[in-house]
Amino acid sequence: MALRTLITRKTLRTAPLGCRGLQTYTLPDLPYDYGDLQPAISAEIMQLHHQKHHQTYVTNFNNALEQLDSAMNKGDASTVVKLQSAIKFNGGGHVNHSIFWKNLAPVREGGGEPPKGSLGSAINNHFGSLEALIQKMNAEGAALQGSGWVWLGVDKEFKHLVVETTANQDPLVTKGASLVPLLGIDVWEHAYYLQYKNVRPDYLKNLWKVMNWKFAGEVYDKESS
Ligand SMILES: [Fe+2]
Repeated sequence: MALRTLITRKTLRTAPLGCRGLQTYTLPDLPYDYGDLQPAISAEIMQLHHQKHHQTYVTNFNNALEQLDSAMNKGDASTVVKLQSAIKFNGGGHVNHSIFWKNLAPVREGGGEPPKGSLGSAINNHFGSLEALIQKMNAEGAALQGSGWVWLGVDKEFKHLVVETTANQDPLVTKGASLVPLLGIDVWEHAYYLQYKNVRPDYLKNLWKVMNWKFAGEVYDKESS
């Protein structure tokens, strides 16, 4: 079976469920084959990460939304409140992974090519150099306890770059309503353990070889203008 799938920009695609029009979410296709990011990330990791882990977040997010819809229709306030953590965790997992896939690209398609244009200039102005930014994100990723994400984002209100970490599946917006992710690095063990075992710093180092700076630059131009 060909693993190549069509590019889709609809990473938060929704599908109507039921006559009330409740929207559910579907797993987005990857814009490259599972093996296209090798040797930085193995095909086995990519396939499991996408088909199993991301799919589970989508499934559980939809389940929680259906329960929320039912509880709201019954006026069941305690269940509405109880569901918030499942919605945050699984909805965040869906949002974060949908960004993560776009943050990566095969080398033959420009993966790892340094940022150009306004984002490249902003990185130099804010962090001193691209290498300094990478070192900072790698250090924060290596130091992050447990599972979470390291982000390069732009504050669209104050028009400056930020580096942040979030725990579990919290999206970057939980650190500030005006923060928009440019790059998100998944530092959950499921993202690297099969290939890198417990050596998270090596995973972080090699991930930059397939980073899609072109995508990050497009988001930056849109959000900082
Ligand atoms: Fe993940």
